[in-house]
Amino acid sequence: MGPNNLPQNADKERYVREMFDRISPRYDLANRILTFGLDQIWRKQVVAGLGLRKGQRVLDVACGTGDFLTMLSSVGLIPVGVDFSFGMLEHSHSTAPKVQGSALELPFATESFDGLTCGFALRNFTSLQPVFAEFRRVLKPGGRLGILEVSTPSNPVFKFGHNIYFNKLVPRLGGVISDRSAYRYLPESVAYLPTSAGLRGMLADEGFEAIDLRLTGLGAAQTILCTRKGAQ
Ligand SMILES: C[S@@+](CC[C@H](N)C(=O)[O-])C[C@H]1O[C@@H](n2cnc3c(N)ncnc32)[C@H](O)[C@@H]1O
Repeated sequence: MGPNNLPQNADKERYVREMFDRISPRYDLANRILTFGLDQIWRKQVVAGLGLRKGQRVLDVACGTGDFLTMLSSVGLIPVGVDFSFGMLEHSHSTAPKVQGSALELPFATESFDGLTCGFALRNFTSLQPVFAEFRRVLKPGGRLGILEVSTPSNPVFKFGHNIYFNKLVPRLGGVISDRSAYRYLPESVAYLPTSAGLRGMLADEGFEAIDLRLTGLGAAQTILCTRKGAQ
């Protein structure tokens, strides 16, 4: 066990996969209600920030039920999804091709994508550095990476409101809509996330540049856009 008695390593991988399999039938409903639909606005910011041309290939890692896949298709990009939860893939609303596989060992050829997205998944991985190394490997030189993740507001007033909502109301509401223990894990799992500076450093170490990390939703979420080093 690690911080807050959260599971670690192989325990964490099994715990997370089984949890997403279990909540997959009501995942979309819970997401829309609990974020007031803001999650879709944040995804749009990431897709626009990739700055890719129609027809370019984008891998969505930890694609879940396909929100990024649907959005990527809607702007003319060619997405492919990968996720290790069969339940989430089974409940996907996207018609894009999808593969069951791990972010730590992506089942795709080296330098095969122009872009890569990853939404609300960093804190679920057992380790981030190997995942970022995989992101780099499958992206072409000059390829674009777009990450969306939760964050904690720094402004004391927003932080107070966010704390009540995210740590107290979300587990209760999520419990009513879906599964109590899963929606208790959601706020607790923020403890796995490195700081913004830490994330920036890890991405730079793995060969990403022009790292643009922004807070959105009054600091409740963060978007990270960056470029895989190397000439295009
Ligand atoms: C909070 S959901 C986010 C789903 C989707 N990206 C979205 O934005 O709605 C996290 C997803 O990460 C997936 N996941 C967690 N760890 C993974 C891993 N090591 N490899 C592949 N998928 C993983 C889970 O199965 C789940 O579908």
